[in-house]
Amino acid sequence: MARVRDKVAVVTGAANGLGRAIALRLAAEGARLALADIEADGLASTVAAVADGGGTATSVVGDITDEAVAGELVDGAAAHYGQIDILVNNVGGGRDGKIWELSVEDWDFVLRLNLRGTFLCTRLAAPHMMQRRQGRIICLSSGAREGTPWTAHYQGGAPYAAAKAGVHGFIRDVAMELAEYKITVNAVAPGPIDTERAGAVLRRLNETVELSPNRLTPLGRLGQPEEVANAVLFLASDEASYVTGHTLAVAGGR
Ligand SMILES: NC(=O)c1ccc[n+]([C@@H]2O[C@H](COP(=O)([O-])OP(=O)(O)OC[C@H]3O[C@@H](n4cnc5c(N)ncnc54)[C@H](O)[C@@H]3O)[C@@H](O)[C@H]2O)c1
Repeated sequence: MARVRDKVAVVTGAANGLGRAIALRLAAEGARLALADIEADGLASTVAAVADGGGTATSVVGDITDEAVAGELVDGAAAHYGQIDILVNNVGGGRDGKIWELSVEDWDFVLRLNLRGTFLCTRLAAPHMMQRRQGRIICLSSGAREGTPWTAHYQGGAPYAAAKAGVHGFIRDVAMELAEYKITVNAVAPGPIDTERAGAVLRRLNETVELSPNRLTPLGRLGQPEEVANAVLFLASDEASYVTGHTLAVAGGR
């Protein structure tokens, strides 16, 4: 099994959760990696895990919404490996609060976190891919963009839902722009996934509320990070050569 053998993959937010699972899955399938995260220790641990599995990863510690950090990651990967084949824009997250509770700072923070790094890294990676007339760009959206029930009931995630709907619009547009270069641009929209952080909240809801994530999910359970990584791997692989501008829900049913 080496579905992305010799490809170079850039993954943001690789210290924890889905980014880490995606990095490990791509490495296990033969990709060489360039990883970034704002958390140095977690990132070092992912780099070590990739090496333990026989893979290769470089890393950049910093805030991916910062233009210089995005440049260091993407242009640095191109300089180091001589190519970029796959970009996974994984960094994202929310700040909870009902619409009447949210501050302007909350709104700006969430839109910036979910969209700015995605824009910066995509803008930087595209010319490297266009030159070679190939590439795969995959962005992490969320079921929350459609107002998934647990989000609506428990989180008050309006800026997060707006930002992830923005990711959906972004990939649709960029997919059209890059189609003539044979570069595909897609999104994966996870439902409730059992990562260290989000999973802790979701598991608590499963134990404490009647309308729990498990009950609201047709498949009746939380997803595993590897199940999201599998979808990213598919979109990154040659098998997905005729898929672009698509948001793939990995959400246990919708
Ligand atoms: N876990 C879920 O249930 C779930 C569901 C739907 C969508 N998502 C989306 O999947 C993606 C990953 O989610 P996760 O649950 O793994 O999140 P997480 O918080 O566990 O991991 C996110 C990683 O990004 C890093 N990061 C945060 N801000 C950063 C910044 N400015 N610059 C660089 N790195 C930064 C964090 O340090 C962390 O390692 C996000 O886009 C999230 O919105 C997750």
